[in-house]
Amino acid sequence: MIQLAHISKIYRFGDTVTEALRDVSLTIEQGEFTAIMGASGSGKTTLLNILGCMDTATSGSYVLDHTNITQLKAAELDKVRRHRITFVFQNFALMDRYSAYDNIELPLLNQKLPHAERRKRVLQTARQLGIESQLGKLPRQMSGGQQQRTAIARALVSGADIILADEPTGALDKKTGIELMEILTRLNAEGKTVILVTHDADVAGYADRILTISDGELVE
Ligand SMILES: Nc1ncnc2c1ncn2[C@@H]1O[C@H](COP(=O)(O)OP(=O)(O)O)[C@@H](O)[C@H]1O
Ligand SMILES: [Mg+2]
Repeated sequence: MIQLAHISKIYRFGDTVTEALRDVSLTIEQGEFTAIMGASGSGKTTLLNILGCMDTATSGSYVLDHTNITQLKAAELDKVRRHRITFVFQNFALMDRYSAYDNIELPLLNQKLPHAERRKRVLQTARQLGIESQLGKLPRQMSGGQQQRTAIARALVSGADIILADEPTGALDKKTGIELMEILTRLNAEGKTVILVTHDADVAGYADRILTISDGELVE
C-alpha cells in the first residue's frame, strides 16, 4: 500500500545542512502494524511526517495506493491527508472548552456532511472506543484514559485507515500507555494500518514488524 523509494530529506538552516533521511526505501502493506525505532535525532519524526503527507521529501518517491504522492496537487494532497491518514498525538490536544462530543465532531465540520450524518459517525466512533457515556463531558471532567479515547475517536471519525503515532506513549503513565497500545492493537486487528515511532522496546513489541533508523538510514 505504501512504497517509499530512495527518499532523502535535507534541511537547510542558514549554513547548517542536515541530512535527516538518506536513501530510505520502505514498503508497508495494508493492515500491517509497523514500529520505527531509533535514537533521538535519527530521523523518525521526519519519516513519519513524510508518510503522513505533512512534509515532503527532498528527493525520492512516495506511492500510496498506486498514487504518486510526490506529484499530487495541493488540493488532492489535502484530500489524502483528510480522508486516509490520521495522527495520534502525544498530548491529547483536546479543546478544553469543548465537550467530548464536540471534540470528536471537529474534523467532520469542514466536510459537507448533514448534521444527522455527523451525529451518526460521532456516536459510532465513540461506541467503538467505549466512551458513549462520556460525550457530554469536558476533557477535565474525564480520566486520562477517557481523554485519550476521545482523542483517538477524533482521530478516527473521518474514516482514515492509516494511523500514525509519534512517540504516543511518551507523556503517559505506564497504565495509560498500555491502554493506548491495546487500543492501537485492536484497531489494527480491525483492519487499520498502524505506523508508530518509539524509542521504547516494550512499545515497539506490540508491532508486527520493527524497523530501525540510525542517522537517517534504515537498518533492518
Ligand atoms: N525543521 C527542521 N529544520 C532543521 N533541521 C531539522 C528540522 N526538523 C528536524 N531537523 C533535524 O533533522 C534530524 C532528524 O530529526 P527528527 O526527524 O526530528 O528526529 P527524531 O524524531 O528521530 O528525534 C535532526 O538532526 C534534527 O535536528
Ligand atoms: Mg521525533
